[in-house]
Amino acid sequence: MKNPFYFGNEVHDKEFCNRIDELRELKNDVGNGINVLLYAPRRFGKTSLLKKLQNELKSSIDTKVIFFDWMSVSSIDEFLDKYFHAIASNLESTSDKVMNLFKDMLQIRPSITMKISNSSDINYGLSFTKKELDSSFEDIINLPFQYAKKSGKKIVVIFDEFQEAEQFGIEKKLRTLIQTHSKDVSYIFSGSKKSILNAMFSDKNRAFYKSVKRLVIKEITLDDWVVFAKDKFEQTAKSIEKEHIKTIFEITNGFPYYTQQLLYHVWQECEQSVDELMIEESLHLMLEREYDLYAYIYSSLTPNQKTTLKYIALFDGKNLYSNDNLSEVNLSASTLKSTLESLMKKDICDRIDDRYYLVDPFMRYWLTESNG
Ligand SMILES: Nc1ncnc2c1ncn2[C@@H]1O[C@H](COP(=O)(O)OP(=O)(O)OP(=O)(O)O)[C@@H](O)[C@H]1O
Ligand SMILES: [Mg+2]
Repeated sequence: MKNPFYFGNEVHDKEFCNRIDELRELKNDVGNGINVLLYAPRRFGKTSLLKKLQNELKSSIDTKVIFFDWMSVSSIDEFLDKYFHAIASNLESTSDKVMNLFKDMLQIRPSITMKISNSSDINYGLSFTKKELDSSFEDIINLPFQYAKKSGKKIVVIFDEFQEAEQFGIEKKLRTLIQTHSKDVSYIFSGSKKSILNAMFSDKNRAFYKSVKRLVIKEITLDDWVVFAKDKFEQTAKSIEKEHIKTIFEITNGFPYYTQQLLYHVWQECEQSVDELMIEESLHLMLEREYDLYAYIYSSLTPNQKTTLKYIALFDGKNLYSNDNLSEVNLSASTLKSTLESLMKKDICDRIDDRYYLVDPFMRYWLTESNG
């Protein structure tokens, strides 16, 4: 029988749990023309949530959604080419309509290319000369706005992994253009690198300073996981008690990727009904699977950073500056301060008020249980 749990890439439909409040809030915001910055750590469910939003908005006849992933972009030319494709394929259904529409809207005349991909979808591309780069940039960025004005429809542009845009030096140009799109085009900027996103959106000298509403998505709650997991076990003729889902939740803290992964292994181990031993064994299996990744991250750190990580794990991130605690590790308060800052810059740790924590909840297990 097929395992009903999944971890890896984005999840859809029956694999998707909750996020009802976040979806409602996002719909309200984009409906009101507000631009949103959505932050969450790696593998937290940003793309799944945004794809679900895209799907739900698609059914509305007066809204069009353009989804664009910055991760795959390595130059501005490539951005324009791929963004153009995203716009064309999401706004119009046939190639004739794409051609007609854009003929009117583009000031310059780049050649628009069309290739049929393996899945028989049309792949729209652009070619223009280097001289035309600036005006092409302006044209392409303004396309959704032009379309909105012409069609009377509302456009939502989703920029996933937006922190990647930083490397191209286009923030000012981009911001200058999209601020004129006002309420006709709403933008959702999403990403996982908090330090970069914070700098982009909170630094007074940066173009996107205070231009967005922030939405932080949270862990999925125990109650939601209980319904989700119980259903999936029952549908596959197995069973899991609420107390066992609670044990799993206490290990993963509701972090979506790890909760699904642990449930996946537990389901695999279980023949009929789940017991505590299965959860323990599954946890070891999971740590083994993730070992290489943690070892790789850990090996790239300085000795002070390594000590500080273990220090956070040991004291659960609390009272790190107390003399008693500090005396247990060989760190001065000033070294601790600069090391914590460097770890936050790397998105390895973060803080809520005075408490520090590891962004990846499993790194703590790895540090304390398998690595030592
Ligand atoms: N709403 C959800 N319900 C159930 N599982 C989820 C949900 N969201 C995410 N997951 C789990 O997390 C995994 C990663 O999801 P997704 O790719 O959407 O995250 P992401 O934040 O976009 O990750 P990345 O930072 O790698 O881009 C999924 O494979 C799934 O196991
Ligand atoms: Mg993603």
